[in-house]
Amino acid sequence: MTILVTGATGFIGSHFCVQALQQGLDVLLLDNLENSSLKVLDAIEQVTGVKPNFIEADLRDKSQLTQIFSVNKIDSVVHFAGYKAVGESATNPLMYYRNNVAGSINLLEVMKEQAVHKLVFSSSATVYGEPVFNPYTEEHRKLPFNPYGQTKSMMEDMMADLCKSDSQFSMVALRYFNPIGAHPSGKLGEDPKGIPNNLMPYITKVAVGELAELGVFGDDYDTVDGTGVRDYIHVMDLAEGHVKAIEYLNNHKGYEAINLGAGHGYSVLQLVKAFEDVNQVKIPYVIKPRREGDLAAYWADATKAEKLLGWTTQLTINDMVRDSWAWQSRNPKGYN
Ligand SMILES: NC(=O)c1ccc[n+]([C@@H]2O[C@H](COP(=O)([O-])OP(=O)(O)OC[C@H]3O[C@@H](n4cnc5c(N)ncnc54)[C@H](O)[C@@H]3O)[C@@H](O)[C@H]2O)c1
Repeated sequence: MTILVTGATGFIGSHFCVQALQQGLDVLLLDNLENSSLKVLDAIEQVTGVKPNFIEADLRDKSQLTQIFSVNKIDSVVHFAGYKAVGESATNPLMYYRNNVAGSINLLEVMKEQAVHKLVFSSSATVYGEPVFNPYTEEHRKLPFNPYGQTKSMMEDMMADLCKSDSQFSMVALRYFNPIGAHPSGKLGEDPKGIPNNLMPYITKVAVGELAELGVFGDDYDTVDGTGVRDYIHVMDLAEGHVKAIEYLNNHKGYEAINLGAGHGYSVLQLVKAFEDVNQVKIPYVIKPRREGDLAAYWADATKAEKLLGWTTQLTINDMVRDSWAWQSRNPKGYN
């Protein structure tokens, strides 16, 4: 009953592997290491006491995938691998379609050929686009406004079509809201290359002195303090959502898209203040003009996850800021 985990050494994949190994699940880790480090494997071993099985491979190489599926007894797949930078996807869309869509088609084809029918996929709240209503339910229309979001939406549609075409398949697309935090041990965390695209790694890099100040884009939105509001979710809660999704797939057929979020939001300045209060570290920031494409506020309606998966978030904003800082302060240069 091996679970193949693609993108396993990345931020979310590595936390899922810890959660899965600690619950006695058998996972086979796959990554091309393009955006992650082999040192993650040592960290997983230190935390779980289990030496993970790892294969360095690229989803764009179908023959490599076929080989992996033919020599391992793979029962299901958790598919994290892909590119995730929204801005980069706008400047280099074909690279995103090639990796996130064509790479995923390879995976789906090999799964079909090898009769592996269960898949959990990392989708994103980005698929919804501009909110018609808030909080987003899974029925909210999909209208992503960048190539990254398009790749997620296309992959969801392919999964739904595949499940319609063959009733043996069972697949879940998990639409993540804003994953932050780190493993509470401080041994695993988010390690973006270069200047971070996301708020929390930016905050921790300011806290550690690598960046001088945080830019807050817009303080005139119609929100509690004028800054943008997002639904932050602790990466360990997110990881547990995947364990629950695998249990669900073992007992259900067909396709479902499910939001994974806390069901409420915090503003940029609320997150900064929580970070400062919990960690006793000052985060200098400057207000900058709004960024094109940024939304004022959105969060998840998380009731479907509770109903179908029996999952809700357990950890608070204070846990998220504490664990993010535990990781960054103990590893100022990430895994290097
Ligand atoms: N982090 C977020 O805020 C967020 C939000 C919504 C959805 N997601 C999705 O969740 C997934 C995981 O995100 P993450 O934050 O852990 O990203 P990450 O970049 O840390 O992890 C992705 C991993 O996939 C690997 N990879 C990329 N292309 C590959 C390929 N062709 N073959 C093999 N490995 C490949 C990378 O080396 C990396 O280790 C991604 O699909 C991302 O789009 C992330």
